[in-house]
Amino acid sequence: MAEVVIAESREVASALAAEAILHQIRSKPKFTLGVATGDTPVAMYRDLASLAEEFGIDLQNLNAFALDEYVGLEPTDPRSFSSALQENFVKVLGLDPAQLHVPQVAACNLSTSGRDFERSIAAAGGIDLQILGIGSNGHIGFNEPGSSLASRTRVTMLADTTRRDNAVFFAESEDVPQHSVSQGIGTILEARHLVLLAFGVKKESAIAAAIEGPVTSACPGSAIQLHPWVTVFLDRESANSLQEKDYYLGAWENKMESLSWRLSP
Ligand code: F6R
Repeated sequence: MAEVVIAESREVASALAAEAILHQIRSKPKFTLGVATGDTPVAMYRDLASLAEEFGIDLQNLNAFALDEYVGLEPTDPRSFSSALQENFVKVLGLDPAQLHVPQVAACNLSTSGRDFERSIAAAGGIDLQILGIGSNGHIGFNEPGSSLASRTRVTMLADTTRRDNAVFFAESEDVPQHSVSQGIGTILEARHLVLLAFGVKKESAIAAAIEGPVTSACPGSAIQLHPWVTVFLDRESANSLQEKDYYLGAWENKMESLSWRLSP
């Protein structure tokens, strides 16, 4: 069962997630981190930077792999995941841009992009820790409902709900790409540790389905139940529909201090 941490706010949840991630990074000099795009992890990336500085944790040997990228946007397009991660992750953490790897989405690369990306992950020794958000429809990466739980990195089609949810980043809703290259669910499950973050009422039902529902391709996020090491960070709103609250950790309770992944100097 996942370790589920319910914090009183998204700010507290983000800071705790950053601590859990840095705790792992500190334990392995050459660490490979899987990174998610979207709104959810942005504050956590800032917390990673400030806590790494506070605790003197070196990030220069970090290797990062994106979960996914839109097909049809240039990597330099500000709406691409490549640009968003350079801005919200690479720059914020003071990394070299070459430390981030994003799936290739140029038309000429599409047939081999998934295989090539998986090869580079393997060449880096596999992903030590994968950061995940979740879509309001339960997607992880851009593995939409119906995706095989064994899927690998490939071209995927975006669901209408996802295109609507992401339309805020585009001038016209028709401009939202129809496809992505996304790590598959099988690929994601090979990371040694999964850290899922979800905030806000919009994620409430996806979180209940992912954590407490049946394991089914109808909710790709439910695949986390197949993984032996998962940590989930929620705020109260996203946790609202969870039934088994007795099994989860409330970050407002004192027991948080004794968790094994809290940072100490
Ligand atoms: C991002 C990704 C998506 C997002 C999800 C939540 O790389 O693969 O699965 O994590 O759509 O997006 P936000 O965080 O914007 O709510």
